[in-house]
This record gives sequence, structure tokens and C-alpha cells, in this order.
Amino acid sequence: MQGVALPPPAHIGIIMDGNGRWAKQHFQPRSLGHRAGAQNFRTITRYASRIGVKYLTIYAFSTENWTRPADEVGALMRLFKDYLQEALRDFMDENIRVRFIGDVAAFSPDLQALIAEVTQASATKTGMVLNLAMNYGGRAEIVEAAKTFAQKVEAGACHSQDLDETLFEQYLYTAGQPSPDLIIRPSGEQRVSNFLLWQCAYAEFVFFDILWPDFKPEDLDRAIAIYHSRQRRFGGV
Ligand code: IPE
Ligand code: IPE
Ligand code: MG
Repeated sequence: MQGVALPPPAHIGIIMDGNGRWAKQHFQPRSLGHRAGAQNFRTITRYASRIGVKYLTIYAFSTENWTRPADEVGALMRLFKDYLQEALRDFMDENIRVRFIGDVAAFSPDLQALIAEVTQASATKTGMVLNLAMNYGGRAEIVEAAKTFAQKVEAGACHSQDLDETLFEQYLYTAGQPSPDLIIRPSGEQRVSNFLLWQCAYAEFVFFDILWPDFKPEDLDRAIAIYHSRQRRFGGV
């Protein structure tokens, strides 16, 4: 794939999946798979920014992932903290703007403080927007948007007849951003698992039989090449 250099689409989403199976393959605890996955997240994020991706949305923790054993959830929370501390220390020269999508109020106060710090510290960056989906669920996002709009109607600030798709989108976490063009899921699973349900309406999906810690920059190039081989019709001819 070296030298192919097809331009990436503006918005790419990645469902980082397969850390647990990767750990199993290596006879390691699942937490080690998550550590390897987090390391790869750094590699792929930097690569995406370098090749000119404008928006990268990474699914890191779903609203359903709280149902995992407490020690695994704890290990993930520690990794998030380590990553955000590192981001504050080392990542800020990357010109990446970090945003968080999901209900971050459910996280511990110190993790929430780090989330706020990283958001603020990167707010003036002009390069790639990195959306970190943490405690994110597509259904929850839509319900929250509906609730906020209903509250505005109740308060007399909006009229229900004014609601259309463009207005509704402004209540989503991704307000103001283009919808994802390409969504990549490694690990072999071929499902959306509650990721960007509204926004994925016309996204192209690429599924790879690679576990996330083994996903390489070349695989991102390959997904982009597959994306270019598709014909998007948006319901037209
Ligand atoms: C993805 O890897 C990481 C998170 C969901 C947080 P998994 O932990 O789901 O890995 P598998 O699917 O069990 O291999
Ligand atoms: C999706 O992966 C969520 C994230 C990658 C954060 P899961 O491993 O949670 O999804 P399922 O359970 O296989 O659908
Ligand atoms: Mg999984």
C-alpha cells in the first residue's frame, strides 16, 4: 500500500474491538489486551492526523461496557486516566483537537476533571478533530437529544413543528460535524454495537478480521482504498 496515497475521507469512525481476544491469543489477562489496544490507539491516531483525516471518531467505551467484570472496567478507567495524563503532557504538540462524545458525567470526578482539562487544552488546535466516544451509546445520544428538545418546547423556547433533521442534529454530541464517511470495525464482528446510530445512515462500513492491537497504519490505508472502490449513492441512482 506504500505510495498509494488515496486521500482519506473527511470523517472516519473506528470501533476499536478485539483487545480481549488478542490477550487470549497471547495467553495474557484481558487488561493487557486493553493496554496493547491503547498503545495502538496512539499510533493510529497520529497516523490519521498525518494523512489528513479531518475528523476521527474512536469508540473507546460503550454505555453497555459497564456490564463487564469490575476489574476489567477498573483497568479500562486506569488506562483512560493514563492516556489523558499523557495527552496533556505529550500530545499537545500534535495539533489535534480532542472532544469527548458520550455521557462523561458517569465517570469518576478525577477522570471528569482530566476530560475537561484535555478538552480545554486542545480547544484552540486547528488540525484533526479527535472525538473520543466514552460512555457513548447511539440510542442514549438520541434519547438525550429528544429530551433536551422537549425541555425547550416545554419552556416555550422552541416549537415542535420546527423540528427537522437539521435541527435535531444540533442536539447530538457531534453537532456541527460532518457525518462519518467510513466506519471501520476490526476484530471480525460485523455489527454496529450502538455506535453513531444516527450519523452512520450513509457511512461505508469496512470490517476486517484483524484484532485491534494488530491493526496497522497500512490497514487504515487499505480501508481507505476500499472506501474509494465503493460507489456512494445516498438513495439516488
Ligand atoms: C474492545 O475490545 C475494547 C472495549 C470494548 C473497551 P474488547 O474488550 O471488546 O475485545 P474482545 O471483543 O473481547 O476481543
Ligand atoms: C463495541 O465493542 C464497543 C467498543 C469498541 C468500545 P464491544 O466488544 O463492546 O461490542 P459487542 O459486545 O461485541 O457487540
Ligand atoms: Mg469486543
